[in-house]
Parts: sequence; structure tokens; C-alpha cells
Amino acid sequence: MPPQSAAAIGSARMTAFPFTFAHHPDGHDFAASAQLASEADTLALGARIAGALAPGLNIWLEGDLGSGKTTLVRGILRALGHAGPVKSPTYTLIELYVVSRMILYHFDFYRLANPEEFLDAGLDEYFSGTGVCLVEWPRQAAPCLAAPDIIITLMARNDGRRATIQAKTEAGRICIHQLTDRTISQRTAPPG
Ligand SMILES: Nc1ncnc2c1ncn2[C@@H]1O[C@H](COP(=O)(O)OP(=O)(O)OP(=O)(O)O)[C@@H](O)[C@H]1O
Ligand SMILES: [Mg+2]
Repeated sequence: MPPQSAAAIGSARMTAFPFTFAHHPDGHDFAASAQLASEADTLALGARIAGALAPGLNIWLEGDLGSGKTTLVRGILRALGHAGPVKSPTYTLIELYVVSRMILYHFDFYRLANPEEFLDAGLDEYFSGTGVCLVEWPRQAAPCLAAPDIIITLMARNDGRRATIQAKTEAGRICIHQLTDRTISQRTAPPG
């Protein structure tokens, strides 16, 4: 069998996702959700997100211990060409990646003693630049943490996971529209 191109593999994976949409025409809120039957699906969702990233996005990753947050980050980084390991920054708080001319910061604040520790470590500076921030356990750093553009929540469902992706800003909404193959003109118009 001839080798498939990366694009062909990507589009094959994309058709496997049953995305559904929720419209909130009065604000920036816009949500998509997907059922992820296996780790491979979580990695594939990461690959879709990778293709829709824009500089400076602040993405919060929520969900219980072991819900797949780091796996999703691994999927994003692999799709961007990072071949090395993606370690959970549970103890280091931050891991830095430079891939595809983009800077990504992967945070894990599970072990943050208090939000002030976030400020004392100077981590707030990473959220004001052009790097993409992917944040596990963001509420451990709130209220010191910048508001998110997107919140992704992973929940155990049967043997797999349910992912909900919610936009909180216009930049987040554009990203979700891209990853769900929707155009902005398809957005529900506000009443009146
Ligand atoms: N869709 C899925 N279905 C089943 N298992 C999955 C799925 N996605 C990821 N997993 C598995 O879940 C386990 C935990 O994943 P991961 O370490 O990414 O979780 P996490 O949310 O980052 O956890 P923590 O909060 O401890 O950092 C891994 O064994 C991974 O293979
Ligand atoms: Mg993790």
C-alpha cells in the first residue's frame, strides 16, 4: 500500500469525530464537544486543535486527575512536529516548546501551593506574549491567571472521554470555528 500523506491521515481522522455545536449568540461563548473513545482520539483532537492555533491563545485544560489533559497537549505538539517526549510539568510548573515557528507553554498548576506562588515565580509574564499557553489545573493559579480564550474540559465517559471546548473570547471563537470546520457566517444571528 502506498504511504499516506500526513494531510490524508489528518482528514481521515477528522471524519471520525462526531462534533456537535452550541451557539450563544449574545456573547463570545461558543462550544463544541466530541466523544473520544480512546487515547488515539484524544491525540487526534489535539492534532485538530494544533491546526487552529493562533499566537497568544490562552487555553485552559480542565478535568479530573487522569482525564487526558496531558495526552491532548501531546497530540497538539506531535501534530506541530515535536518528536520528543511530552512530560507533564507537574513539578516544573512549565515546559517550553518551540515548534512550527510557534512557541507553546505547557503549564500544570496542580502542585501550586497558592496563587501567589504563580506571581512570585514570574509566570504571569508568559501570558502576555505571543506564545500559546496550555494550562492544566488553571484554577489553582486563579485569580492571578489571565482569563482564558478557550476552556477545554475532559470528562470520563464510559471507557473513553467527553471533550467540551468552549470559547471565552473572540480569538477563542475563531479558533473553535476553524477546528470544527465551521465558518463564522454560519453563526446564529442575535435575535432582533
Ligand atoms: N479518550 C481516552 N479514552 C481512554 N483513555 C484515555 C483517553 N485519553 C487519554 N486517556 C488515558 O488517560 C490516562 C491519563 O491521561 P493524562 O496523563 O493525559 O491525564 P491528565 O488529565 O493530564 O492527568 P493529570 O491531572 O494527573 O495531569 C492515560 O493513560 C491516557 O492514555
Ligand atoms: Mg496532566
